[in-house]
Amino acid sequence: MKITVIGTGYVGLVTGTCLAETGNEVICVDIDQEKVEKMRSGVIPIYEPHLDILFDRNIKANRLQFTTSLEEGLQHGEIIFLALPTPEDEDGSADLSYVLNVSEEIGKKIKSYKVIVDKSTVPVGTAEKVYSVIAKNASCEFDVVSNPEFLREGFAVDDFMKPERIVVGSSSDRATVLMQKLYSPFVRSGNPILIMDEKSAELTKYAANSFLATKITFMNEIANYCEKVGADVDKVRVGMGTDSRIGKRFLFPGIGYGGSCFPKDVKALQKAGKDSNYDFKILNAVIDVNVRQKTILLPKMEGYFKDDLKGKTIAVWGLAFKPETDDIREAPAIDMMNGLLKRGATLQVFDPEAMPNIKKQFGDTLQYSESMYDAVKGADALLICTEWSIFRTPDYAKLRELMNDTVIFDGRNLYNVDDLKTEKFTYISIGRKE
Ligand code: UGA
Repeated sequence: MKITVIGTGYVGLVTGTCLAETGNEVICVDIDQEKVEKMRSGVIPIYEPHLDILFDRNIKANRLQFTTSLEEGLQHGEIIFLALPTPEDEDGSADLSYVLNVSEEIGKKIKSYKVIVDKSTVPVGTAEKVYSVIAKNASCEFDVVSNPEFLREGFAVDDFMKPERIVVGSSSDRATVLMQKLYSPFVRSGNPILIMDEKSAELTKYAANSFLATKITFMNEIANYCEKVGADVDKVRVGMGTDSRIGKRFLFPGIGYGGSCFPKDVKALQKAGKDSNYDFKILNAVIDVNVRQKTILLPKMEGYFKDDLKGKTIAVWGLAFKPETDDIREAPAIDMMNGLLKRGATLQVFDPEAMPNIKKQFGDTLQYSESMYDAVKGADALLICTEWSIFRTPDYAKLRELMNDTVIFDGRNLYNVDDLKTEKFTYISIGRKE
């Protein structure tokens, strides 16, 4: 099939590449000339495991092309994906200006039947808005469907190629048939393509992300309470998670959720609720708890250093909002580092992928280390903010030798508490006995 993807951010690039992989002819459109040139020559603008192989293969096979011309893109595809940014507005709502501006152009430029697919995370009612903006100028038939994506950064290729479900909001049989044809190679295992109305599809995405953020946040509160009463959150987590109604996943406590999705989507749903005269009390609490959780280790560090972090050297392992990405948006590490800098600490930081992004934001306020061991040289404490695999089995003897004081503040509960005792570390984590 002929497919066009407008917007080559994270979602657009993964969507375009993975659709090309199953034999579709894909053109990706972006206004950024330099980025388009780079992609044409095979340079991939994001870090995402396994995407590079597919990207390269499909460019070489001519199934994946790039252009800055919206006109060319709109002529090519029968299905047009909108994968445009929907940034957070000042009031927390999703800013639809990119989506609606492009829709206006689509209305003016399309000359034959098209299915316009909302892939971006957009508030309930957006498909309707997109439809009426296009309809103002369109001289041919078209349909608008909502098809939210459920990709996780770091696992995006796998999530796209083997989805647990595909959600399609469509009230046109013609569009539904095309969407089913497009996605059938991805659900050979029998996983469902769920067809529903556009509004329900749009809300499914917000509800799913907000539920997952709530699940994590609930567990973070249980972890905080465990500390008060001397319980162990690891035990509680397993005890709860083995109930299949609860499930084991997304129950890991830590220093809060971050990224470009959960924080933005929870706030957008809260705001959308307000606009419809509905107060999402549970989301208000999730947002508040997560803000507190991101710096929950600060008072513990202050306690350890008797309120005097000034001049202390702290090693920080893990800066990305989660492992397997270089994305630092809303990363808890940022809040922790800002808090420590404010208290006069010197920070020696290391992350396997996110250092360039952190450098852009923090400039010379941090000491950038070459390796995880380089970061702990002379450190008065080690702080762990992201659970990259390489941090899981450190050489403890080397840490003892390099560090000034052997204390670890672990925001991701990477280690067994007893093991660290045996290794003679003071170990302070989340929701477990010290
Ligand atoms: C999330 C959803 O998981 C995807 O399904 C969705 O498509 C995506 O948002 C999106 O809307 O585009 P992502 O933001 O890539 O994906 O990251 P997650 O793996 O969901 O993690 C989000 C945050 O929750 C991270 O900061 C992570 O450290 C934290 N987390 C996750 C926990 O603190 N505990 C857990 O048990 C799981």
